[in-house]
Amino acid sequence: MTTHPSRSIRQVIPGAGTSDGAGVRIKRSLGQQPSVRLDPFLMLDEFGSSDAADYIAGFPSHPHRGFETVTYMIEGHMLHEDHMGNRGDLRNGGVQWMTAGRGIIHSEMPQQESGTMRGFQLWLNLPAAEKMQDAGYHDIQPEDIPEIRIDGGLVKLIAGETAINGQSATGAVSGSSTAPIYADIQLEPAAKVSLNVPASHQGLLYLYEGDATLGQQPLQRSAANILADDGDSITVKSGPTGARLLLIAGKPIGEPIVQYGPFVMNSREEIEQALQDYRDGTLTA
Ligand code: CO
Repeated sequence: MTTHPSRSIRQVIPGAGTSDGAGVRIKRSLGQQPSVRLDPFLMLDEFGSSDAADYIAGFPSHPHRGFETVTYMIEGHMLHEDHMGNRGDLRNGGVQWMTAGRGIIHSEMPQQESGTMRGFQLWLNLPAAEKMQDAGYHDIQPEDIPEIRIDGGLVKLIAGETAINGQSATGAVSGSSTAPIYADIQLEPAAKVSLNVPASHQGLLYLYEGDATLGQQPLQRSAANILADDGDSITVKSGPTGARLLLIAGKPIGEPIVQYGPFVMNSREEIEQALQDYRDGTLTA
């Protein structure tokens, strides 16, 4: 039997309150500064409010080039529309996996005027060789996300391959070159779970409800708790009120990153080209 030493936390990046789109209130951990990234991840935003004023303005039409966005809606209803004619309803528990590639122009607008909207948007970088691929869009329904029941909880495996308490599991999305693992872990009070996170991967834990510890270290709420490279698994234990947290991990790309707003490329020249293409209306051509 192989042992899988549990990783520890090497750094904590608290989510900073800011707004994006037309004025949606978010907490941004990764991506709040260009230096605060975790290759292959560029940005991680948490949105969550029961005050419609915090989300109603949504994200009107805007472009992207050079990476992927993964939106996980925990509660609420948004409509995605893009230049390819895709329309996708993002509802409680659903995921939208969008590959901007050479270019996409899309909007994400709330379809509710009251109630709670809560979820996450992650930006996943693409290697240079894949940045200029055709745009793609994948709407993943809640019932298509594997749910692995464990003693005292549940793991929803949105992406990747891992082992959960020693049992192999495959998520709804796989096959990307950065082999991302994206899991939503829900634990009842004083429950415990272990997941494999290969040594090749950088990763983080994002606690968004309750309390939990990784080994002896308490996880900070609404923060990217960055994993150290000291093992190939994590073992999380929940506190007296239970916990909900994300595990996000992937293989680093190790290439230069030049970002200008919604364009993420490898050089300034490529950014200038993206701006030029957007002005000329050929971003998505
Ligand atoms: Co967008």
